[in-house]
Amino acid sequence: MKVAVIGAGYVGLTTAACLAHLGHEVVCADLDESRVAKLNTGEIPILEEGMPAIVEEGLTSRRLRFVVGAANAAAGADCIFICVATPQGDDGAADMKYVEAAAREIAPVLAPGSVVINKSTMPVGSSRFVQRILDESGPALDRVTVASNPEFLREGQAVRDFLNPDRIVIGCDDPAAAVRVSELYSGLRAPVLVTDPASAEMIKYASNAFLATKISFINAIANLCEAVDADVREVALGMGYDRRIGFEFLKPGPGYGGSCFPKDSAALLHTAQVNGYSFDLLEGVIEVNRKQYEHMVNKITQGAGGSLNGAVIGVWGLTFKSDTDDLRDSPSMLISERLLNAGAIVQAYDPAGADKAKQMLPGLEIRTDAYDAATGADVVAVLTEWDEFRWLDFDRLRGLVSKPVIVDARNLLDPAAMRRRGFQYSGVGR
Ligand SMILES: NC(=O)c1ccc[n+]([C@@H]2O[C@H](COP(=O)([O-])OP(=O)(O)OC[C@H]3O[C@@H](n4cnc5c(N)ncnc54)[C@H](O)[C@@H]3O)[C@@H](O)[C@H]2O)c1
Repeated sequence: MKVAVIGAGYVGLTTAACLAHLGHEVVCADLDESRVAKLNTGEIPILEEGMPAIVEEGLTSRRLRFVVGAANAAAGADCIFICVATPQGDDGAADMKYVEAAAREIAPVLAPGSVVINKSTMPVGSSRFVQRILDESGPALDRVTVASNPEFLREGQAVRDFLNPDRIVIGCDDPAAAVRVSELYSGLRAPVLVTDPASAEMIKYASNAFLATKISFINAIANLCEAVDADVREVALGMGYDRRIGFEFLKPGPGYGGSCFPKDSAALLHTAQVNGYSFDLLEGVIEVNRKQYEHMVNKITQGAGGSLNGAVIGVWGLTFKSDTDDLRDSPSMLISERLLNAGAIVQAYDPAGADKAKQMLPGLEIRTDAYDAATGADVVAVLTEWDEFRWLDFDRLRGLVSKPVIVDARNLLDPAAMRRRGFQYSGVGR
């Protein structure tokens, strides 16, 4: 099929490259000219495992190309994916301005019978919203259908997740259009769930809110474990063996972050509010998460002797999780900002996100590696779970720090091994 993908970010680029891999003819558009130029030469603007190879394959086979401008991609396409950002607006709701702009751009060039597919995470009612924008902005478009097809990939393993989905959700009132969308994925082995548009839109938000709930739940249990001298890692293990619970998303840490959970939980709460439902549970999840950042700042403050003013903090990791360069709503960035505001000197190292982090938080002192970031530090704070932090020479580290204090917000290190080397070690919930 001829496919257009609007937006070459984490989701758009993955969608475009993977659909080309599955045999479709894909044109992917972005507004950013330099991004498009780089992509057409195989240069990948994001850190994503497997992406360079699959984009290279698409370019070589000529099934994948990149253009500037949504209309240039959408003209003549059978299916048009909208993959632009839907960031959090001031009132918590998803800001639909990029979706609206993209829909207005493509409307005049859409072919009769084509299907516009909302892949961005959009609130309930967005299929109707996009249909209305298309109707307003294009010629007689009654034969263009809008479908919702939310994406569940995880950054860092986006290609693998896209090609091995747990399920494919298609929300569409027109059965023939739903079948066409499902045909795009016919090379994949996954259950396909066809629903009405509102249910598909809700499935995405409900899934993210549920995962956020699991994280806040285990963080709350971790805090309680600290109070009663239990080890949350043992607790999570004991819970996870119960198949009704499972092991996933039971890792305590500094709170959830990233480009999805914070904004999507806020947007779902907003949907509840405007529809007169008091979603107390979700409010609690968001509040536990906010307090978890504070809890980490408090641990670092205690480690520094009670005051951050003038304290040197070595921060390991800035991205919202490992194996990505994404800093959006990163707990590490939020914590680093709090440290800087309290007068600390923050020496940070991250394998993938350092340059962008410095632009966002100019007060950060970016260091070349984990040892460099720890040199002269009063506290070393492990804020992102990059694997390389596990395998350092901790005897060497002991000689570099000003005070041997480690706050491990990811429970990445072995407390006993750290204590044996003379470190005062504080993890989460143990
Ligand atoms: N990142 C994830 O892990 C993930 C997972 C599932 C769903 N989502 C959802 O997918 C959507 C996109 O997220 P993302 O992380 O890929 O965003 P992103 O910011 O990485 O990418 C969006 C891209 O769209 C481009 N763009 C914006 N308007 C455009 C237009 N009119 N024409 C062409 N290009 C345009 C931007 O330049 C940018 O490159 C969001 O709704 C998000 O919630 C994201």
